[in-house]
Amino acid sequence: MQKDNSSVKDNMHSQLLFQQKELAQRCLDIAGVILVALDGEQKVAMINRKGCELFGHREDEIIGKNWFDEFLPDEDRERTRTGFKKYIGADIESMAKFENFIRTKSGENRLIAWSNTLLKDENGRIIGTLSSGEDITERKKAEEALRTSEATMRSILQAAPIGIGIIKNRTFYFVNDYACQVSGYAKEELLGQSARMIYETEEEFQRVGEEVYRHIAEKGVGIIETRFKTKNGDLIDVYLSAAPLDPSDSEQGFTFTAMDITRQKQNIEYLKKSEVQLRSLAAHLQTIREDERGAIAREIHDELAQVLTALKMDLSLIEMDIKERDEIFSLAKLSKDIVMMQSLIDATIKKLRRLITELRPEALDNLGLVPAIEWQIKDFQSRSGVRCDFQMNRKELSLDKNREIAIFRIIQEALTNIGRHARAKTVKVTIDQKLRHIVIRIIDDGVGFSMDILDNPKSFGLLGMKERAIVFGGSCIIESNKAAGTTVTVTLPTGE
Ligand SMILES: Nc1ncnc2c1ncn2[C@@H]1O[C@H](COP(=O)(O)OP(=O)(O)OP(=O)(O)O)[C@@H](O)[C@H]1O
Ligand SMILES: [Mg+2]
Repeated sequence: MQKDNSSVKDNMHSQLLFQQKELAQRCLDIAGVILVALDGEQKVAMINRKGCELFGHREDEIIGKNWFDEFLPDEDRERTRTGFKKYIGADIESMAKFENFIRTKSGENRLIAWSNTLLKDENGRIIGTLSSGEDITERKKAEEALRTSEATMRSILQAAPIGIGIIKNRTFYFVNDYACQVSGYAKEELLGQSARMIYETEEEFQRVGEEVYRHIAEKGVGIIETRFKTKNGDLIDVYLSAAPLDPSDSEQGFTFTAMDITRQKQNIEYLKKSEVQLRSLAAHLQTIREDERGAIAREIHDELAQVLTALKMDLSLIEMDIKERDEIFSLAKLSKDIVMMQSLIDATIKKLRRLITELRPEALDNLGLVPAIEWQIKDFQSRSGVRCDFQMNRKELSLDKNREIAIFRIIQEALTNIGRHARAKTVKVTIDQKLRHIVIRIIDDGVGFSMDILDNPKSFGLLGMKERAIVFGGSCIIESNKAAGTTVTVTLPTGE
């Protein structure tokens, strides 16, 4: 009876043990993590179902194999083995948490985050490790992708030559460096503040808000031109564009971009002004041509035609005298008439020369630019009485005919202006030939003029000088002030 009792007990005990083992195995198998036990020889003593699934091996293909040699990729093997050795040498800190790659049956590497614990026998000796692992391959990839996209975003925001920011309830929530640069405010000065601070007036702030919201409601994007007031009070023209972060919920805020278009606006204004000036210049040139033709026709009529008529009449009288041989006829009178006719012819030749020179200076065609300018300056000096100084850094200039004419005419106009308006005492003309361009300066010490005159589309002389330079890709800058007279600086590419 005694014996029976103890055998029933034994039986119950072994049944209980079996059930506990079964229970433990099931727990291991249903665990959501990988569980692996290694013995002191680095061999796998136990692996759960999840672990087998991850590797793609059966349990018996894993148990008893060296963990590091068989299941880790080359690049992670020794680092992990060293960690393991330290750990079972009781260096608790080194391996409690660890990340390393494992290699699956199909040859794929997966990154596992491990939590480790030491296994000990009843005497407290370390006999192996138990690790639970989580496959974090995808999470790491996602984190990496997020990091990359955040870095990309940051660098785009930094590199963009345009102000970019986020506004919530018209308050700055984010701004990039360029937005700070354009507005003159530091990030800390903008963030958390109402956008009102960068508008000149409350009305403009309201207008922009209303317009932008209206556009967004209609088209999804709000685009408007406005002006920002920078920290130092300057007004800049801005092309503003805004879109909601979440189209279904404007409370989430708006992304905006702000482009500084001050320079473009100025250029457009400048172009518009130039166009008006050019049109008016073209019309003026047309009139001038007609006027000049009229003047030449008048000169020819008044001077040449009349002189020739007079000469013809004189000759007729002489002819009559000779034919009739009357007593009044004498050689002395004939000689006197001839002298008178000669002086009339001389005066006419002079007039004709002047007329021709005005049309096209002879010196320019016959002698070249430099002597023509010297002649022009001498002529100006003797007619105006203004002392004139001429300097050049070269003896000769090598320019084509069209450029020579342009330079000659520019100097001519500048000198004519000095003669007519400047009341100058002295004039200095300098020509510097550089490697690829030539710089001409005409400086007077006269009364100067207000710079508004330059914008006047009726300043045809000044505009003409500019146009002549621009035709060759050059420039003509006119500086004038009442105290120091006027300086005309022409820069012309030599075209070589
Ligand atoms: N060197 C100068 N010194 C003082 N005033 C000048 C000088 N050059 C030009 N100006 C001023 O600029 C104005 C415009 O000059 P611009 O040459 O365009 O016209 P203009 O000489 O009056 O007439 P034109 O069309 O016949 O040349 C002049 O009327 C004069 O007031
Ligand atoms: Mg003039």
